[in-house]
Amino acid sequence: MTVQQVLLLLLLWMWLPHPCHTEMLFRRTPDVRPKSFGGRTSGHDGKAIHRQKRGWMWNQFFLLEEYTGSDYQYVGKLHSDQDKGDGSLKYILSGDGAGTLFIIDEKTGDIHATRRIDREEKAFYTLRAQAINRRTLRPVEPESEFVIKIHDINDNEPTFPEEIYTASVPEMSVVGTSVVQVTATDADDPSYGNSARVIYSILQGQPYFSVEPETGIIRTALPNMNRENREQYQVVIQAKDMGGQMGGLSGTTTVNITLTDVNDNPPRFPQSTIHLRIPESSPVGTAIGSVKATDADTGKNAEVEYRIIDGDGTDMFDIVTKKDTQEGIITVRKPLDYETRRLYTLKVEAENTHVDPRFYYLGPFKDTTIVKISVDDVDEPPVFSRSSYLFEVHEDIELGTIIGTVMARDPDSASSPIRFSLDRHTDLDRIFNIHSGNGSIYTSKPLDREISQWHNLSVIAAEINNPKDTTRVPVYVRILDVNDNAPQFAVFYDTFVCENARAGQLIQTISAVDKDDPLGGQKFFFSLAAVNPNFTVQDNEDNTARILTRRNGFSRHEISTYLLPVVISDNDYPIQSSTGTLTIRVCACDSRGNMQSCSAEALLLPAGLSTGALVAILLCIIILLVIVVLFAALKRQRKKEPLILSKEDIRDNIVSYNDEGGGEEDTQAFDIGTLRNPAAIEDKKLRRDIIPETFFVPRRTPSAPDNTDVRDFINQRLKEHDTDPSAPPYDSLATYAYEGNDSIAESLSSLESGTTEGDQNYDYLREWGPRFNKLAEMYGGGESDKDTS
Ligand SMILES: *[C@@H]1O[C@H](CO)[C@@H](O)[C@H](O)[C@H]1NC(C)=O
Ligand SMILES: *[C@@H]1O[C@H](CO)[C@@H](O)[C@H](O)[C@H]1NC(C)=O
Ligand SMILES: *[C@@H]1O[C@H](CO)[C@@H](O)[C@H](O)[C@H]1NC(C)=O
Ligand SMILES: *[C@@H]1O[C@H](CO)[C@@H](O)[C@H](O)[C@H]1NC(C)=O
Repeated sequence: MTVQQVLLLLLLWMWLPHPCHTEMLFRRTPDVRPKSFGGRTSGHDGKAIHRQKRGWMWNQFFLLEEYTGSDYQYVGKLHSDQDKGDGSLKYILSGDGAGTLFIIDEKTGDIHATRRIDREEKAFYTLRAQAINRRTLRPVEPESEFVIKIHDINDNEPTFPEEIYTASVPEMSVVGTSVVQVTATDADDPSYGNSARVIYSILQGQPYFSVEPETGIIRTALPNMNRENREQYQVVIQAKDMGGQMGGLSGTTTVNITLTDVNDNPPRFPQSTIHLRIPESSPVGTAIGSVKATDADTGKNAEVEYRIIDGDGTDMFDIVTKKDTQEGIITVRKPLDYETRRLYTLKVEAENTHVDPRFYYLGPFKDTTIVKISVDDVDEPPVFSRSSYLFEVHEDIELGTIIGTVMARDPDSASSPIRFSLDRHTDLDRIFNIHSGNGSIYTSKPLDREISQWHNLSVIAAEINNPKDTTRVPVYVRILDVNDNAPQFAVFYDTFVCENARAGQLIQTISAVDKDDPLGGQKFFFSLAAVNPNFTVQDNEDNTARILTRRNGFSRHEISTYLLPVVISDNDYPIQSSTGTLTIRVCACDSRGNMQSCSAEALLLPAGLSTGALVAILLCIIILLVIVVLFAALKRQRKKEPLILSKEDIRDNIVSYNDEGGGEEDTQAFDIGTLRNPAAIEDKKLRRDIIPETFFVPRRTPSAPDNTDVRDFINQRLKEHDTDPSAPPYDSLATYAYEGNDSIAESLSSLESGTTEGDQNYDYLREWGPRFNKLAEMYGGGESDKDTS
């Protein structure tokens, strides 16, 4: 055994509460191993007798963790009392870490640990030991289990799970109010020694906070901590193991502590008097200004309610609290008038809405201020005595009569005089006028209810000092009726009397109308202007009357038309009457009184004609006219049919024919060969611009010899067609059309070939043949082409 081993064992013996294990090696101890080690041996009962026979002299081993020595750490010694020390026994180790972590000297039974062991990794190792006879290889002792327990040393410092804690505590809390608990953990063995016994202390944050050493509870340490002074605190807590003793390991954490607000501050108005101004014209509800009390608290602890508690304008103004800005807005409650009152004084109170009774001792949580409101003068427009005026006036009043007076005054203290005027847009006919000085409205034109019953005017009042400041008022003028219109026949009466009428027979019922509108309704009276032996009128007293015959036997040969004047009058004041004349024709009637014919003279007299008759006559005339027009049109149409010979048509054809002409290059348009050899003309070189009504093949004359004069040839062709019996009446046209190809007579060519007939030299045709052909075709000259020139 080395000196080191001896020292270590000595240390262990001193330190451990257990019996020294070196001693255990040499003393037979019957099962002192704690049950927790889970050995297969039994308890303290009778079986202990068997164990007496056993020769193992060992029990549990203890080993210190974190050994830092250079050599193997000695764990302990296996020893059997069968071992005589002669080397005949061999010790064998198996189990956790046997052979690697733990090695055994097979002769001596000394166990060593080969490397550093960390208890926090594994606290104990379970191993099995065997002792065999080296010679026989038979176990001298039964295999047994034992435990190497690793002893803790303080190799872990306390740690906090959080690096920074945040916590809050209300301001003004009493001393010792718990804020938060912080707990550090230590990985060392808490069941052994003080390695894991943690003590808390405060490194930073005094004197405001303290920490309970055993629990880590942080508490307030200062009374009346005021958030309004300081809100944030940073507290550093240290946790130290070994019960906080020197040499212990330590860890720290930071706790951010916030003081939360309580309502410990009342609202305060910064000024004791506030001045506001408001123009008198401001309508009800206008905001005049605001007052604001400050409160050092925050959130709902700073919420303030404003009210007017006193003053001489309490009924004139309101105050409302604006929640977002915590202001009191003063508004107009009743219309202001500078001329009535110019200064108001209000006492405004601001009070916290959320009060904490704990802080009542600090005083009332409200404040007051005086608000002075000056009303400013505004130049106000005139004010009418009424919001509208209604004047009623009879239509027959004299011109210039005052129909009513409007009144207005200047509400300002200066009381400027007023000028009145009429809005001419409301009186386009200029019927009314107004005295600008006193507002009297009078007529300047006669009134007529029957034209307009209402005149709705607009009167403008303006201050003389400030003409732009105007007010308008509506003036309704109702025109009252006066009986100024006489009644008249309601309609025009077209009346007749039968020749065979008898006395008393009804010939017409008449009624009347009147433009006036009397209050009691209309009442008309009918009478004859003079006594009449032939007709009479009978008033039905319901605003109608009947015209009756007074005798028999009327004769249209004697008198064809009677004129009967009828007087119609109303019964209003003043009575108005008129005379309407009824025209009564005398007509022949059948026995039932149906009109058959009236006098012939009457037919010619427009007055005696019925509209029906007039319409019939008109219709007859129109029909006659239509027939005449139709007849004329038909005649013209028939005359027009053979008009194909008219000059316009021929000219049309010529113009179209000219279109056929080609230019120099147009070699296809005409072949000179046809001139020389008429046999080649059989091709249907028909004009394309007219459709021939009859197609006739040109009869051929024996073709002229090649040297025949072109002129002769053309004449021959022309003659041939002139004498053609099958040609249509407008033969010359068709012939011309065809012949044009061949003829050069009357050509308009620039070669002046067709100007003078007779002395033309056609020799050039031989030299200029192709060109001429084209020109001839272009200008289409021919014998009968005289119409074109
Ligand atoms: C703690 O407080 C410090 C200083 O007041 C600040 O910088 C930090 O951000 C805070 N940390 C947390 C997590 O609130
Ligand atoms: C207003 O003045 C006019 C003329 O100046 C006068 O005729 C009229 O009577 C006055 N009206 C009133 C109501 O005095
Ligand atoms: C004028 O006013 C009266 C009363 O308000 C109304 O009955 C009438 O229709 C108005 N006339 C015109 C032309 O506006
Ligand atoms: C009444 O009729 C007679 C004959 O028909 C005629 O002469 C006379 O003028 C008429 N009287 C009046 C007032 O029309």
